[in-house]
Amino acid sequence: MRRFFPIALLALGLVLCSACGAGRNSPGDSSNEDLIVVGMCQVGAESDWRVANSESMKAVFTEENGYRLLFDDARQKQENQITAIRKFIQQQVDYIVLMPISESGWDSVLQEAKEAGIPVILVDRMVDVEDESLYAAHIGSDFLKEGRLAVAWMEDAFREAEDPVRVIHIQGTLGSTAQLGRTAALEEAVETHENWELPAQMDGDFTQAKTYEVMTEYLSSLPGGRDIDVVYCENDNIAFGALQALEEQGYACGPDGVSIITFDATRGALTECLNGRIALAVECNPLLGPLVETVIQDMEAGRTPEKHSFVEERVFTSENLTAALVESRAY
Ligand code: AHR
Repeated sequence: MRRFFPIALLALGLVLCSACGAGRNSPGDSSNEDLIVVGMCQVGAESDWRVANSESMKAVFTEENGYRLLFDDARQKQENQITAIRKFIQQQVDYIVLMPISESGWDSVLQEAKEAGIPVILVDRMVDVEDESLYAAHIGSDFLKEGRLAVAWMEDAFREAEDPVRVIHIQGTLGSTAQLGRTAALEEAVETHENWELPAQMDGDFTQAKTYEVMTEYLSSLPGGRDIDVVYCENDNIAFGALQALEEQGYACGPDGVSIITFDATRGALTECLNGRIALAVECNPLLGPLVETVIQDMEAGRTPEKHSFVEERVFTSENLTAALVESRAY
């Protein structure tokens, strides 16, 4: 009985608090009322790129910089991202930052955010919505351009080839902008190059574990081993899984064997590129935190941000890489 009053008061406090919004204009925690509240819906932690992307956001959106970050990891499920957005709407955050796992299925929930007056900033991938006013800005990579950079390298590397060029294609999460762009570039190139062949397309879901599994199964199914010229891996973790599977089954990867193409160019992949096991690494820059902050600061100042901003990206081979460059890579 003696403990009834404190517990009841605590419970009442929790009920009142959960009814309060998190944003600056809501009644609530007075110590945080000047902070800009950002609700962030991250895809998950499927790749080294993704981890670097989350770290870049967390380094920028700190209390010292004037923000309160509510970070949600959706564990690679779109339904978790939708639930998180609805929660951020209830909490009346000031901005929602969304890294959408796939392009479709966003109209309703983004409409709800719009009706609540909360601007949504898309980061990394895009959404496919009827009404562009459902998001304030998009910052990310031009994935089709990245794919075309890889194709340009292949055209050069196999310019003299008279025999078929056999390309194994391992895709990222199906329906994501990164997969759609990188896949479109390869498929259009296979259409226009008579001797390029695509004997297998597999879903590696941007992870090393899934790729190792599907690639091992594929290679084991080949009668007595077959010629493979290129493995087009839609991110670095796919490349690591493919390398492991190929080498375990006796394939050499490098200048005299299979050419591995990858996207992201994280330090791990650049190391393999420098030592020759990866032929080409196309950069995909995850360090987007400062750019997202610029958009928020523009909006805070009443300016309309650019609708789409793409980051500059490069390509790496063993010829333009140095050990110092690899060492200094931030991710
Ligand atoms: O959308 C960017 C892609 O998603 C990166 O290439 C990949 O590593 C990540 O998981």
